[in-house]
Amino acid sequence: MKIDILTLFPALFSNFLTESMIGIAVNNGAIDVKITNIRDFAHDKHKTTDDYPYGGGAGMIMKPEPIFEAVQAVKTAKNTPVIYFTPQGRLLDQDLVNEYCKSEKIILLCGHYKEIDQRVRELVVTDEISIGDYVLSGGEIPAMVFIDAVARLQEGVLSDIDSAMSDSHQKYLLGCPHYTRPPEFKGLTVPEVLLSGNHARIAEWRLERAREITQKIRPDLYKKFIENEKKK
Ligand code: ADE
Repeated sequence: MKIDILTLFPALFSNFLTESMIGIAVNNGAIDVKITNIRDFAHDKHKTTDDYPYGGGAGMIMKPEPIFEAVQAVKTAKNTPVIYFTPQGRLLDQDLVNEYCKSEKIILLCGHYKEIDQRVRELVVTDEISIGDYVLSGGEIPAMVFIDAVARLQEGVLSDIDSAMSDSHQKYLLGCPHYTRPPEFKGLTVPEVLLSGNHARIAEWRLERAREITQKIRPDLYKKFIENEKKK
């Protein structure tokens, strides 16, 4: 999967792209990430990428020309999604991640400061995504969240595909409790069933705990789970 990131702050991505699971995904070619500095497309000698808002008010607006040209420079096919991260976008959830993880190429546009010029939004942005109902100072962290979620579903990234398929949220359920050695820690023991070696009982126990937790913490998600079960 090819991922183009357009940002004013390329350095924010350096550790992110070399460490842990994303580092593996980059190294084994599961994702091919290219970073483009929007500032390289600024027109004046000061490399200006933002300006005051028409109509006044606080905050700076990212100028349209550098963003437009940066998108043109990386866009090789007409139907490549250009995703802009904004609190006004569609809320990112596992269903949306599952849709995008099949894309051959995506372009991620990270805004910064107050906003990007509306015209460039209308001209080049195809999809808008929010990672939650709160305001961040830019789209870089949302882009990292998005990349992490799609990269781990690419083939060859997780050693055990089961581990992705049994993830929290993959079936509209939150995760169940997990334990590792030692069997007793500060007086707390591991549920007996997990030591039983009976895989059918273990799977049943995990599903039951996941259902209980989801129903209690996220009744909205649990409703989706029940609806999805009925479809089966
Ligand atoms: N940019 C600023 N806040 C954001 C959010 N919550 N989601 C996506 N992009 C953003």
